[in-house]
Amino acid sequence: MSINAHKKDFPMLAGQPQLVYLDSGATSQTPQPVLDAMNDYYNTCNANIHRGVYQVSTEATKRYEATREKIAAFIGAQREELIFTSGATMSLNLLAYSLCSTLKQGDEVVTTLMEHHSNFVPWQQLAKQHGFTMRSIGVTPDGRLNMEEAAALISPATKIVTFTHMSNALGTINPAKELCALAHRVGAVAIVDGAQSIAHMQVDVKNMNCDFFVFSGHKMFGPKGIGCLYGKATLLKNMQPFLYGGDMISEVTTTDTCFNELPYKFEAGTPNIADAIGLGAAVDYIQSIGIKNVIQHEAVLTRYALDVLKNIPNITFYGPQNASQYAIISFNLKGIHAHDVATLLDREHIAVRAGHHCAMPFMTALGVHGTVRVSLSSYNTKEDIDKLHDALLKVQKIFK
Ligand code: ALA
Repeated sequence: MSINAHKKDFPMLAGQPQLVYLDSGATSQTPQPVLDAMNDYYNTCNANIHRGVYQVSTEATKRYEATREKIAAFIGAQREELIFTSGATMSLNLLAYSLCSTLKQGDEVVTTLMEHHSNFVPWQQLAKQHGFTMRSIGVTPDGRLNMEEAAALISPATKIVTFTHMSNALGTINPAKELCALAHRVGAVAIVDGAQSIAHMQVDVKNMNCDFFVFSGHKMFGPKGIGCLYGKATLLKNMQPFLYGGDMISEVTTTDTCFNELPYKFEAGTPNIADAIGLGAAVDYIQSIGIKNVIQHEAVLTRYALDVLKNIPNITFYGPQNASQYAIISFNLKGIHAHDVATLLDREHIAVRAGHHCAMPFMTALGVHGTVRVSLSSYNTKEDIDKLHDALLKVQKIFK
């Protein structure tokens, strides 16, 4: 499939050709094959999984488990290491609740100032509950992680190092392998938040050598309400489940419970079957375009956007503006509030996000209240960027 032709696969974009959708960091558009896969489950085998012996139930189980295998292979994992959750936020909370239950005063969790709140607030709140200390690696003025500070902060007291693979606010890509190695050097586990990176990079969890990797389906052309938690089998086996209920048990007596084998131990209750199958179709869709083609197209577009937008007077960019910034451009126009910029862009049918991007500590570190964020996907084109450029000049005229 040609990457230039694939905008037409997305019903919302095809149905509203005037719309310039530049908010894929918040959620990506959903292509027809994903919608079809979900519909087909409801139309042909709408039954619960792992429970029924009848045909439509076994068909549903087959599709759900085949999807697990496909997604596991997509990130270089084994099937039992891939747990379905409702998304990256749920995966991170699961990890925080399960892993922090054994932490105590004197232990440390190291995160970063670059995190989305979903990888900051759980650790912060559990630190208050359990008495461990949370430390945050700082950032450089151009929005990269301060790696010298990382090396200094990660100490023998550190039990968990948790960081974003790619900043949702600026698009900065962090050196995940290096950070995982720093964690392992002191015997800590490394958690990688891949909510943004999963749609834009070839992820190989074994090569990265992370212990856990989390992501959401809706940022990678899949539906909302489904996501994944990858964990090394050896660690998941010893980890306490976070949610209790049906399917996560192998035997229950009046006094105790034996938990099910991996990955079911962490999937209590009826799962989000249709959306998991939809996510599998999203992986098929990405593979039909080719992840390498996606990466190349978006790299060209990111560079183009930076080049074109720098001609706008009084624009300030946030982020490294080099190869370590990808698919996201964050900026402010002097004297115009980011929300005003986004509201006026909407009048030109351009959708962007403005504000703190659920990353308030990052905004504070950068010395801003918020930014305008343009986030790209493989369905965006140079024409979209040109329209944005012209619309930003119009916004400036209005405020003159
Ligand atoms: N995490 C999403 C974003 O960055 C909602 O916009």
